[in-house]
Amino acid sequence: MQIIRELQGLKPAVAALRGAGDTLALVPTMGALHDGHLALVAEARKHAARVTATIFVNPLQFNDPGDLARYPRTEEADLARLEAAGCDLVWLPTPAQLYPDGFATSISVRGVSERWEGEHRPGHFDGVATVVAKLLLAVRPTHAIFGEKDWQQLAVIRRVEADLGMGVAILGQPTVREADGLAMSSRNALLSPEHRAEAVALPAALQAAGKEIAAGGAVGPALERAKATLRAEGFSDVDYVALVDADSLEPLESPREPMRLLAAASIGGVRLIDNIPVTSE
Ligand code: PAJ
Repeated sequence: MQIIRELQGLKPAVAALRGAGDTLALVPTMGALHDGHLALVAEARKHAARVTATIFVNPLQFNDPGDLARYPRTEEADLARLEAAGCDLVWLPTPAQLYPDGFATSISVRGVSERWEGEHRPGHFDGVATVVAKLLLAVRPTHAIFGEKDWQQLAVIRRVEADLGMGVAILGQPTVREADGLAMSSRNALLSPEHRAEAVALPAALQAAGKEIAAGGAVGPALERAKATLRAEGFSDVDYVALVDADSLEPLESPREPMRLLAAASIGGVRLIDNIPVTSE
């Protein structure tokens, strides 16, 4: 597995990797890799002859400087995991390489980025859209893989590709969960053992509300019950629990497919997000 740190080294390395026009998949990450990330690499290998990953803790997408400062960084273990997963090349850019002095461009996506995470993390999706476009334009892959764990992010990236036409097939990968149902996340490492145990209330509340709605229960009360459960089970702030149109991310007052249940809530000062599909019975 090649490890590239300099922008100048990237283009020739990617060109050599692709040889005579092989397919190439990109898996962008912020490191602190877990089995959810590695599932993206495994999926990438099914679609493309070669797989590239990036590890870059993107300062542009952190609206909270404290969150950026304490974001877990485990580079050595990450590289070992990527190699074992069959990654061909890893690019680790620095902020100065991606955002040199004078950098002034921002990609801002209307509509799909405005609610939920967009509302609670101002500027977050501008940072995500900008860095993902930069990574895609630097690597020029045929495919790029993103997790459904960040459903709204996936929708925003699909929008950017549809609007800018970078010629990349955007693929989504289902959420990988711990044995108790908690979605794997680099932020889970920041939870105390007690809060880690209580955090299972998040997927459990989504499952319960999803079941109720799928069976024809009223949407509003089901969402309110989920919020109340989260508060009762140890979550301090519940930013939202919402039933949304899976593509537009607009809230739904009554079921209409395709739909998705989204939630964001904090426990022990750690903000967690999760989502599940809902299908009417
Ligand atoms: P990061 O949080 O490191 O996630 C990298 C990719 O892994 C994203 O596509 C994310 O959705 C996916 N992922 C995370 N946890 C997952 C899980 N439990 N199951 C399946 N996929 C999972 O998301 C980002 O980084 C950044 O915003 C990035 C896209 C790299 C842009 O900076």
